[in-house]
Amino acid sequence: MQGKALPGFRDFYPEELTLRNHIFATWRSVAARYGFEEYDGPPLEALDLYTQKSGDEIVQQLYAFRDKGDRDVALRPEMTPTLARMVAARVQALKKPIRWFSIPQLFRYERQQRGRLREHFQLNMDIIGEASPLADAELMAAAIDIMRGFGLTASDVQLRVSDRRVIRTLLTGRGIKEAQLETAFAVIDRSERVPKNVLEEMLRDAGYGKRETSAVFDVAALRGQDALKAASETGESLGQAVQALESMGLGEFVSIDLTIVRGLAYYTGIVWELFDAKKSLRAVAGGGRYDSLLDLPALGFGMGDVVLGELLKERGAVPKASTELGAFLIAVGGDDMPAMLQLAHAMRERGIAVEYGLRQAGVRKQLELASARGAARAVIIGPEERKDGLAVVRDLRAGTEAKVPLDKLLNGYFD
Ligand code: HAM
Repeated sequence: MQGKALPGFRDFYPEELTLRNHIFATWRSVAARYGFEEYDGPPLEALDLYTQKSGDEIVQQLYAFRDKGDRDVALRPEMTPTLARMVAARVQALKKPIRWFSIPQLFRYERQQRGRLREHFQLNMDIIGEASPLADAELMAAAIDIMRGFGLTASDVQLRVSDRRVIRTLLTGRGIKEAQLETAFAVIDRSERVPKNVLEEMLRDAGYGKRETSAVFDVAALRGQDALKAASETGESLGQAVQALESMGLGEFVSIDLTIVRGLAYYTGIVWELFDAKKSLRAVAGGGRYDSLLDLPALGFGMGDVVLGELLKERGAVPKASTELGAFLIAVGGDDMPAMLQLAHAMRERGIAVEYGLRQAGVRKQLELASARGAARAVIIGPEERKDGLAVVRDLRAGTEAKVPLDKLLNGYFD
């Protein structure tokens, strides 16, 4: 038997699953507050769903194979193509705008690096059938509120927003041809991660002259007021979306940054990414408008559990245990066992989390086990208390004890 999971795949020991569940619970509660409904699709899809919709980078990372019925299939690397397929199949019947969320596990054969694994869970929130920039603001606000739900502030995370239409207009206005735009987007996307000479070479290979090359770097360097001015000259949406976030009181989380273009090919308008403020980790979330994937205006984002988990651990914002025991029950002797079992079951029926030793042992040994299990209290049943309908409740943290009637234990004592 192999000792380890495959590279890039995780075992979730209880401690790690506690963190994952905490992340999912926060995602679900914010999505619900924003009025989103949960959906899911299959983890395995026809290969051509991705070759047609996902763009090169993801297609190269697919876990794809031929199944026993000779179908070319792939594990889902992202949720957006499944969502597009599901919506297209019922497009007439669904009331627009559609506001849906999902938490799929996704699979990409990625190069191993910090924050990137070969499987991850990803919250997806998407709005379909709404062209207003208020919809863009809505999704950015939800992503920010998720961060706030974890106790993070604007000094922990920043959302950087841009608009592909603005970048396109700025570039074509500087003499760059439509056919060359894709390389410019790729260069701008990497401008903070890859050395300048490598980027210049990419541009040279795509036929860029000196003047066009410096135009690409000029656009990539636009920030703050300059970026906003350039944006407002080329369209209103970006400014309106940012303004809406300011009205919600979330302005301090947001900055305009035209280096954000997103790696995926299907984005058409506003695009954004959420990073830790120091930018020492990969993006926590990213999304934008993809109006051409369906015949409807559409937008959404994905937020993975990997980088987010790292960030929460770094900030000490992780929950402790998954189950908090209300009490650990102890039978003093073999004769007390039936009464202890009866009480344990009655307490569980009332929703109190209860555990007891599964074999007969001395009280001291059982108390040790109770502490090791993290129980707040031990409830001890011995022959004398049993006669009087009582139990000894020992507070394991304070070390104090009290005799409590059994009916009280079952009615409100542990609330
Ligand atoms: P994406 O940028 O490829 O977008 O992924 C979104 C987020 O998922 C990333 O910011 C990151 O947190 C996480 N993520 C992606 N790949 C990995 C990986 N290999 N390991 C760990 N985490 C990862 C999309 O997938 C779009 N489909 C999102 C979207 C939904 N756009 C519109 N709607």
